[in-house]
Amino acid sequence: MKGKFITFEGIDGAGKSSHVEWLADWLRGQGKIVHITREPGGTPLGERLRQLLLSEPMHLETETLLMFAARREHLAQLIEPALARGEWVVCDRFTDASYAYQGGGRGLDRAKLLTLENWVHGHIQPDLTLLFDLPLEVARERIALTERSLDRFEQEKADFHHRVRLAYLERAATHPGRIQVIQADRSLEDIRKTLEEIITTNCLK
Ligand code: TMP
Repeated sequence: MKGKFITFEGIDGAGKSSHVEWLADWLRGQGKIVHITREPGGTPLGERLRQLLLSEPMHLETETLLMFAARREHLAQLIEPALARGEWVVCDRFTDASYAYQGGGRGLDRAKLLTLENWVHGHIQPDLTLLFDLPLEVARERIALTERSLDRFEQEKADFHHRVRLAYLERAATHPGRIQVIQADRSLEDIRKTLEEIITTNCLK
């Protein structure tokens, strides 16, 4: 049986990353072999590109091309071989993030994103995308509490993050089967219960 490809998305501060590990453990409990990975990153080259992308000022199209370059490598080295072996891949962000951040946040023409999407993974899409959504102010408060230094995206102003959130919600509205919106300003237990239900209905039955 082919493995499943599950992606996590959301604005910075939505708290999605803390659920990635939990979901992978839960799936392992269901007998699945699960890889946890992230974008940008996920391969040695991708992680080097990530360092540049999160710190180095660059042209918007350079940023977009590097995101997709890292993605191409990630698909080739990790995602596709794992799925072909029947294993599961849980990935913290994927192409919806490019539509939200480079498209929504920075205003890149969607047609260019579509060209790159078709080029890099026209043949493969996530089986399920969990979009963690919450009011911008709550996400901003969470980011403000972070002790580490903020990356290039986290440092952007509130209106940037507002556009990112709207673009994510717009993607969810246009891909209702694949993208499930999770209300992220709830307790950990409530969110886990929702995740369990969604995965059981969409991926295990
Ligand atoms: P992370 O903080 O969730 O690890 O993601 C790193 C940042 O990269 C996050 O602020 C969103 C951004 N990003 C994009 O702008 N475009 C993309 O395609 C991806 C995958 C991430």
